[in-house]
Amino acid sequence: MSMIERVYEKAKRDPKRVVFPEGDEGRTLLAAEKLYKAGICVPILLGNVERIRAAAAEAGADIAGIETIDPEKSDKRPFYIQSLYELRKAKGLTLEQADRLVSDPMYYGILMVKLGDADGLVSGAVHTTGDMLRPALQIIKTKPGIRIVSSSFLMNCPNPELGDEGLLVYADCIVNPCPTAEELAQIAVTTAATAHDLCGVETPRVALLSFSTKGSTEHELVTKVREAVRIAHELAPDVLLDGELQPDAALVPEVGASKAPGSPVAGRANVLIFPDLQAGNIAYKLTQRIGGAEAYAVLQGLAKPCNDLSRGCSVQDIVNTAALTAVQAR
Ligand code: ACO
Repeated sequence: MSMIERVYEKAKRDPKRVVFPEGDEGRTLLAAEKLYKAGICVPILLGNVERIRAAAAEAGADIAGIETIDPEKSDKRPFYIQSLYELRKAKGLTLEQADRLVSDPMYYGILMVKLGDADGLVSGAVHTTGDMLRPALQIIKTKPGIRIVSSSFLMNCPNPELGDEGLLVYADCIVNPCPTAEELAQIAVTTAATAHDLCGVETPRVALLSFSTKGSTEHELVTKVREAVRIAHELAPDVLLDGELQPDAALVPEVGASKAPGSPVAGRANVLIFPDLQAGNIAYKLTQRIGGAEAYAVLQGLAKPCNDLSRGCSVQDIVNTAALTAVQAR
């Protein structure tokens, strides 16, 4: 069974409520139908109900039985406005601004998750990453004990000798443009947990990547990665974690043995931590496009799960992301 099939099975055991702020978007509606009929989650569609119905008819989606909510007309609207105001008044948000924001299905959906009326959220078929991420960071905030939200890309590679039977978990490829050493350490530890809890990797082996392996080069960028390794060991002494490592030393047993002898990670890494967002984002796209890997993205470190799609996503991508969101919500 592939990693994503295992995720479907887990999600079906305890279907969670996943809200879609882009409720009048054709691919989202087709995905909602599949998710509902397969029992992977309980989808909730946000938007003007007439527009949702018209979009469903145009897309050929059967949404009978799926809950739809219009943020403009919902009974919960006054409660959501007051809640948003209370959450953000210290940051200068006024009641009038809160009233306007609650009309936006993105804010309404994020408030549903925050206030327990949904278990998770999926968007991004229309909106950009920042459109969802900013309100999620402002309203849902981080899990207790976690200071930074980041992302993992679950890369299902055709070569089963890589990582965990072909699965490699990459971070951070979406959120943090220039993480500090402390932030990189937190990303490494959080990603190990995602690999274990969400992907079923029994023993995450975390490599913090660089253009240097174990002191082969001296540069301030390398020093940052080395410092991140030191901090990550303090944060999570039980996690198998090493660096700085070049990707070949992290992944290829013979190279790892020669460049980093004695490392518990080198040559057998299944979690790869990139030093910044440029490296991470480029690496995942190259692995997908040149390496032929399937790529699934999740945000990690948020107190409740919200996940982003690419605007070029397929119906299947939305189904996969919703299934991952439902499992994160368990
Ligand atoms: N973790 C936790 N909280 C955060 C983080 C983080 N990583 N980043 C920002 N925040 C919080 C801030 O503390 C702030 O909270 P507050 O308002 O309560 O004080 C709030 O989020 C907003 O912070 P800003 O600094 O105003 O937000 P910013 O404008 O920096 O936007 C964002 C944050 C959206 C994550 C930004 O860093 C970003 O655009 N990142 C890159 C996204 C991107 O384009 N990714 C690549 C493409 S995606 C793809 O290829 C799949």
